[in-house]
Amino acid sequence: MKINWPHEFPGVYWQDKKEEQAVLDVLRNGSLFRYYGLRPPKHVDRYEKAACAFYQVKHALAVNSGTGALMASMRAFGIGPGCEVIVPAFLWVATVGAVVQMDAIPVLCEVDDTFTMDPWDLQRKITPRTKLIVPIHMAGAPCNMTAIMKIARQHGIPVLEDCAQCNGGSYRGQKVGTFGDMGIFSLQLNKNMTCGEGGLVITNNTHLYTRAFAAHDMGLIRVNGRLSMPEPSSLLWGGGRRMSELCGAVAGVQLRKLPKILAQMRASKQRIKQWIKNTPGLSFRRLTDEQGDSGPFLILTLSGEKQALQAVRVMREQGLHNVHRLADYGLHIYSNIPSLVKKIPLSPAGNPWRLEANRRSVYNYQAGACPQSDELFARSILLPIPSRLTRKQEQAAAQIIRKAAGSLDARYKTNC
Ligand SMILES: Cc1ncc(COP(=O)(O)O)c(C=O)c1O
Repeated sequence: MKINWPHEFPGVYWQDKKEEQAVLDVLRNGSLFRYYGLRPPKHVDRYEKAACAFYQVKHALAVNSGTGALMASMRAFGIGPGCEVIVPAFLWVATVGAVVQMDAIPVLCEVDDTFTMDPWDLQRKITPRTKLIVPIHMAGAPCNMTAIMKIARQHGIPVLEDCAQCNGGSYRGQKVGTFGDMGIFSLQLNKNMTCGEGGLVITNNTHLYTRAFAAHDMGLIRVNGRLSMPEPSSLLWGGGRRMSELCGAVAGVQLRKLPKILAQMRASKQRIKQWIKNTPGLSFRRLTDEQGDSGPFLILTLSGEKQALQAVRVMREQGLHNVHRLADYGLHIYSNIPSLVKKIPLSPAGNPWRLEANRRSVYNYQAGACPQSDELFARSILLPIPSRLTRKQEQAAAQIIRKAAGSLDARYKTNC
């Protein structure tokens, strides 16, 4: 029973004439730039307005990528030399990279069996230099925002939620990205909705919005599309991270489809979980809120590293080609990021690692820095749940997973 598991590009499988029409509208109007053109169609503007309604926030700023959204947000918070920023051990290189590019120091926090920031370890990692906490709603599911926000508020530290992998997800009925002071999203191809490359910053804080705006554009604000002088604390340097009209056109259509995309992934995941739930030796990632899980990934934990390696091998042989053991999941794991482990400087001056302002922030990023997370990564596997699965594909996947878990006992018995 070999299958051909589809690629994990959730939004792509839902593209149709609507995206085509929107893109054609931009081209036919000769207006690729969001602020002016022959006949500005204002797709980015409309996408931002729709985003405000969807996430129920005051401000939404469309940018050119999730990385761009992180950088503009960190500028808004004023992150720089002397600042420590707490990020989880299960992440994406862009999150930690944005911290380094602010000349600040990343501090790793353990993940727990939710595979998101462990509130207990977060508490331990706070120092007088902690200036930002960045929980990441990894692999589709929300963090424990109650505990994280409580700790952050007790210490007066702002929170930037990285929702790149959990667009449309929620925690206790409230959308992710709206608990902290700011939230960011990515619209890159692998994400729940996509325009190929794109990002979004959301916030209810007008001051942070204005600063993020200045940082993403040219260091100024715009009034009716025209550059204008902000109040002094929002006069910054621009990062050139505006969203193009082509991306805005696609993003606007995909946002309307997002609830359907999520419903489909969640339902597929639920059915697969039902079919494998009593498999000996397998346990599921603990979800902080099952309803709020956006559904694009299934994380399974096995009893040990050998079992996980073997399960991945069997699953790949059977056609689940994009399953990964978490420890081998590339730049999602802190110790797999060479620039972080080696503390590669931004310039010959050695920054941020050798800056005088950072001299008290000395941390290690090699494997072993987060032992609780390392242990989980070693024996856990991640399977993408594509957004247009048939019942047949779901059942076949469940059978393969059961076989992969079941086959372990027999093989290991003979090896011992
Ligand atoms: C958790 C997380 N944060 C940030 C990003 C960066 O987004 P982008 O690729 O759009 O720059 C990603 C993208 O994969 C991500 O997974």
